[in-house]
This record gives sequence, structure tokens and C-alpha cells, in this order.
Amino acid sequence: MNERYDFIVKLRAIRDYEDRGLSEPDLEAILEAARWTGSSKNRQNWSFVVITGEGLDGLAEHGDFTQPIRDSAATIVLVQEAGGNMFDIGRAAQNIMLAAKAIEVASCPITLHRDADAREFLGAPSGSVTRYAVALGYPAPTAVPRRFGGRRSAQSVVHYDRY
Ligand SMILES: Cc1cc2nc3c(=O)[nH]c(=O)nc-3n(C[C@H](O)[C@H](O)[C@H](O)COP(=O)(O)O)c2cc1C
Repeated sequence: MNERYDFIVKLRAIRDYEDRGLSEPDLEAILEAARWTGSSKNRQNWSFVVITGEGLDGLAEHGDFTQPIRDSAATIVLVQEAGGNMFDIGRAAQNIMLAAKAIEVASCPITLHRDADAREFLGAPSGSVTRYAVALGYPAPTAVPRRFGGRRSAQSVVHYDRY
């Protein structure tokens, strides 16, 4: 194919970050990519809450596999506002991850399993859903994708004409 195609296909979750904050321009660039994500009827029913510093440990309490949040330079929580839909949130998360990769920032999607508690922690409005976040940081020199186990075969996931 070509480099741009590989850039997308080779996006991996990276969980090991350098111990330094994101630069303001890098964080802004990532948030801008999130803001420009397409959404159903262009409703943009989302908010993006950036957590840094001491807030990271508090946020991490609300999910089961959240060490990347604790280790991150910043974590963006995707808030699905009332009336929004999760497909849009997923698109925004992927935009965040791809934009981050484009400026050499590593990322990992995170589930906040106790999302109602996370919502309270964040002070997000009732009716909003705060179940997903993306941890971000400059990749540690030793960083490698950890749980990458390949993918199901094309034959098993792609169907033509009928399931
Ligand atoms: C919706 C979603 C939720 C995820 N939640 C977590 C999580 O809570 N903790 C974590 O370490 N990784 C999480 N991941 C990352 C996946 O484990 C990872 O994407 C998957 O193992 C495939 O690896 P790869 O993205 O490096 O190819 C999540 C990914 C997705 C798409």
C-alpha cells in the first residue's frame, strides 16, 4: 500500500509513557482533531475533559484496567452528552489516537467500568455517559504494544451480500 495506509493500520495501544507532561501545542492539536470529528447529524453531542496531574489517580479508580491513566501525561475523558451516541464517541476516540500518533504521542483507549462514579468524579451532567477515555503520553523508549495478538482472519469477519 502506502505510508498513510500503514499509519492507520499500524495504530496500536501504547501503555508506557515518558514521565513528562504533554506540550500545550500537542495537547491542543489532539483536542482540535477530536473537535473536528464527524458525528451523527453533526450534533457534536460530546465534551472532552482533560485530566492531568493528581486527578489521574482519582480517575483511574473508576475502571478495572486503568494503569495507563495513572502513567499518562494526560487522559482525555470522552463525555457522551445526553442524546449523543456511542458511535460518535468511538469516532472521536479514534481521531484522538490518530492525531496523537501523527505528532508522536502514544495513546491507549480506556474503559471506565464504573462510569456513573466517573461521571460524579468529573462533575459531568446527569444523563451524560463517561465510560471511555484515552490515555496519552510521549512513548517511553522501550514502549511496545503489549497485548497485540494479531486479528481475526478477514474470512471470519468480512461477509459479502449476506452475513
Ligand atoms: C473500547 C475499548 C476499551 C479499551 N479499554 C482498555 C482498558 O480499559 N485498558 C487497557 O489497558 N486497554 C484498553 N483498550 C485497549 C485494547 O486492549 C487494545 O486496543 C486491544 O488489545 C488491541 O490492541 P492494539 O490496539 O494495540 O492493536 C481498550 C480498547 C477499546 C477499543
